[in-house]
Amino acid sequence: GTGAGGQGPLIGFKAVPVSNADTVLVPPGYKVQTFVPWGTPITGNMPAFDPLKNTGADQAQQVGMHHDGMHFFPIEGKDPYQGSSTEGLLVMNHEYVEPRFLHASAVGQKLNSDAVPALVNGKRPADECLKELNAHGVSVIHIRREANGQWGVVAPSRYNRRITGLTPMEISGPVRGTDFVKTKYSPDGTRTRGTLNNCAHGVTPWNTYMMAEENWAGYFINKVGANGRTREQSRYGVRHNDSRPPTSRYGWELADSGAEEYARFDVSAKGANPTQDYRNEANGFGWMVEFDPFDPNSTPVKRTALGRFAHEGIIFQPAVEGKPVVCYSGDDARDEYIYKFVSKGVYRKAAGKANSALLDEGTLYVAKFNDDGTGEWLPLVFGQGPLTPFRFNSQADVLVNTRLAADTVGATKMDRPEWGAIDPKTGQVYFTLTNNSDRTRADKANPREKNRWGHIIRWSEAGNDPTATKFQWDIFLLSGPENDSQFAGKPLNADQIHNSPDGLWFDKDGRLWIQTDISESAMNKGDYAQFGNNQMLCADPRTQTLRRFLVGPLGQEITGVVTTPDGKTMFVNVQHPGATTSADDFAAGKLTGTWPNQGRYPRSATLVITKEDGGVIGT
Ligand code: FEO
Ligand code: CA
Ligand code: CA
Ligand code: CA
Repeated sequence: GTGAGGQGPLIGFKAVPVSNADTVLVPPGYKVQTFVPWGTPITGNMPAFDPLKNTGADQAQQVGMHHDGMHFFPIEGKDPYQGSSTEGLLVMNHEYVEPRFLHASAVGQKLNSDAVPALVNGKRPADECLKELNAHGVSVIHIRREANGQWGVVAPSRYNRRITGLTPMEISGPVRGTDFVKTKYSPDGTRTRGTLNNCAHGVTPWNTYMMAEENWAGYFINKVGANGRTREQSRYGVRHNDSRPPTSRYGWELADSGAEEYARFDVSAKGANPTQDYRNEANGFGWMVEFDPFDPNSTPVKRTALGRFAHEGIIFQPAVEGKPVVCYSGDDARDEYIYKFVSKGVYRKAAGKANSALLDEGTLYVAKFNDDGTGEWLPLVFGQGPLTPFRFNSQADVLVNTRLAADTVGATKMDRPEWGAIDPKTGQVYFTLTNNSDRTRADKANPREKNRWGHIIRWSEAGNDPTATKFQWDIFLLSGPENDSQFAGKPLNADQIHNSPDGLWFDKDGRLWIQTDISESAMNKGDYAQFGNNQMLCADPRTQTLRRFLVGPLGQEITGVVTTPDGKTMFVNVQHPGATTSADDFAAGKLTGTWPNQGRYPRSATLVITKEDGGVIGT
């Protein structure tokens, strides 16, 4: 239905204007509750949020930092999109951290959004490293709508859980047990510790959650130097001692305790034996990771058959009884690729969560977009085509080096593939291509050189068969300002302009929700000022309607969106509010953006959006 009794247009709200205010704007008739900000206690001793006093251990019992992709799992649900609309598990990723807001030692120092506090005798305090690792990962939060219409956290609850950069994880699929992942921690190559930089997510047809490991490479350093890195380290950008600064992203390898859980971020080879050092630690990252939010004791599993790259997220075609499972994932880096996985085995609804094994065996493909509007899925199978023993040794080698394999078969270099979404009415697949300052030669699928504004591409699989190896594609939307954009054959108008599409989600009625991520270095400056703060739009592909629904506060990106099954409550994440505060201003205690204005610092948080008339969101 479309909401109001199945009548009327899918999109009925009045557009909100572009804004650069430090607040959240939604259309008339809508209201917003700020919910589960970073630091909200959910488990254990329920430590109250206090950014200057909370320890690393406290952070493991609180909601993480920098909310990203998320899903609402109806409580006791067997289906990820059916069941209760008033109680469920809100499961969300925490992509990265801003150390300056995490530590008392940061106060008064000149720190930008990525910097760590000054080293002490060349070291980092171990508890700061612990707090940063524990602010990453995933939160499982049992939530319920109360009688007054506000949503609250259910605590204690057996479901509430934090998964962090330290949580033990299984490795499954073709890479499990191979030399690539044998480490001091797991000499037999079956386990690894933690997940990092979880950007978007995925929801399997059997009601489990998948977290994507996106920009994990920079969390590691090889001190042998740029040329001393293994090929699987260099193609992905593991840091080295000529990097600036010459540490990993957060310098965890410099923890003053010297403990292995921090030391492992230095992946230099130290001797002959790979299980006596940390050279293979980074090979445990770059995967899609599955876990069951309804089983708080479950061990997350890294599904290596889905490939290793800067996974933005993953989107599944609806499962069909007796057919293979099909999913898509983008590699968000400039000139990287879009992938598809087709399982070898077939889906059986009655098998329930045992269907997870389908993700361990199948064919990984990479997309080639031809200029004539056709496309091909090129298989990444060891021994097929150019993936010969001259270049690769095994399917595990192909998967650990997925980007090199995709280069080798001649896939199409894309403008930073971010989220995907599948139209529930047609099975058409949409992907955001957020921008690409590096592109020097346009093609039809990436039609702009130095693509500053981004676009959305879409395709239909041949014969509407998700397992097909051919497809037809077109450009759905060219993002940008009024004088350089296109939707449905026309330039975007004032209610539609936006830049750098990133988050993307179809609700079950067929509304396409589009979220933007103008980088914090560009937002509200120069040519980017006309777009204001990052925002969310809503499109109806059938009526070719597009309209701005929400604008977020200063410094943030809007990312992560889902509704309850009835469509009447929407959850949207606001990530890194106030990140535009400069290092000098931070030192002076002058913050650019303090949303949601709950204490000393800005805090990532979830917006709970409802309609005053109780209707479906978007109508
Ligand atoms: Fe984490 Fe590609 O956005
Ligand atoms: Ca993103
Ligand atoms: Ca981002
Ligand atoms: Ca982005």
